[in-house]
Amino acid sequence: MQNIVLIPGDGIGKEITEAVTTILDAAGAKINWIPCEAGEATFKKTGNPLPDETITAIEKHRIVLKGPLTTPVGAGFRSINVALRQKFNLYSNIRPAKSLPNIDSPFRAVDIVLFRENTQGLYIGKEHWVDEEKKHAESIAVVTRDASEKIITAAFEYARKNKRQKVTLVHKANILKLTTGLFLEIGGEIAKKYPEIEFQDLIVDNMAMQMVLRPQQFDVIVTTNLFGDILSDLASGLVGGLGVTGAANIGDTAAMFEAVHGSAPDIAGQGKANPTALLFSALMMLEYLDEYKLAERIRSAVYTVLQDHKNECTADIGGEGTTKTYTDAICELLSY
Ligand code: NAI
Ligand code: MG
Repeated sequence: MQNIVLIPGDGIGKEITEAVTTILDAAGAKINWIPCEAGEATFKKTGNPLPDETITAIEKHRIVLKGPLTTPVGAGFRSINVALRQKFNLYSNIRPAKSLPNIDSPFRAVDIVLFRENTQGLYIGKEHWVDEEKKHAESIAVVTRDASEKIITAAFEYARKNKRQKVTLVHKANILKLTTGLFLEIGGEIAKKYPEIEFQDLIVDNMAMQMVLRPQQFDVIVTTNLFGDILSDLASGLVGGLGVTGAANIGDTAAMFEAVHGSAPDIAGQGKANPTALLFSALMMLEYLDEYKLAERIRSAVYTVLQDHKNECTADIGGEGTTKTYTDAICELLSY
């Protein structure tokens, strides 16, 4: 049995983690789930959004499947997602976006894997007030050689291992010459060690346009934290939306698997949430555990349900079903 820390999280978190654990159990995954708490609901209950017991459990078991955690906008406690990624140095945020069968989209044959630096950059929210009247705020973007080398190497290693053709590094080095300039410079150095892989760099605004115009030209993408956050939602939009894109946060000694999406408060508690995104994250977890066959069997069941049981799918991907009808349809296929 493999111990996995399970954090259901906020909003739709409970619904989708229940669906995913049900599917993994139905597929015969030998997992001992260790439920832990974090997020806004935990904060409201205990005054602490990230309890010590949760940190201790992650330190012990090292692998986490996590639902989304709500982060208050403007004031309030700082992101627990960012805190977890930094605390366990989960420097690689890997976010695949691949076209799926029978999902209505103007984009075809998209197959992108985005590597997002996960521990620094503007995204970590290093901010302060300059004046006492709070009329002047500043944000600091940190980029180090060490962290940049790690994420860019992870992207190239992935490309080599999976026989991908091209790595595109996304930056804004024309304006942010020091921070993203350093990131770009290191990309050029590392690319030389992978001569079989084409290396390209693009400025982020052009990249956003290119991804919508002709997404098929992109293969592996590597970028800094905030650009990766934005472009990975964009990439999700190319393949059916946030309901269908999984993700992994991987460091040298721990890994946390979660969807790209957030807690979706607009649909929470209504049985409308699509669990595919978290399920695909869980499949990345199975692959991390070298359970490739099991992951493939579940992925193939998902594809069959999308193709042949569209009515049972959730509304975000054009179905007429609920979280439960979709989960049941996958479990039914897995039971054969
Ligand atoms: P969101 O990703 O929660 O939702 C954006 C839109 O996508 C909504 O219309 C939602 O209904 C839809 N959606 C998302 N997941 C879906 C699913 N599985 N099935 C069907 N539809 C789905 O983004 P939003 O609303 O900007 O953020 C809500 C909260 O989530 C915020 O507090 C934010 O900080 C947090 N968040 C947490 C993340 C994490 O835990 N890793 C990631 C992103 C946001
Ligand atoms: Mg995001």
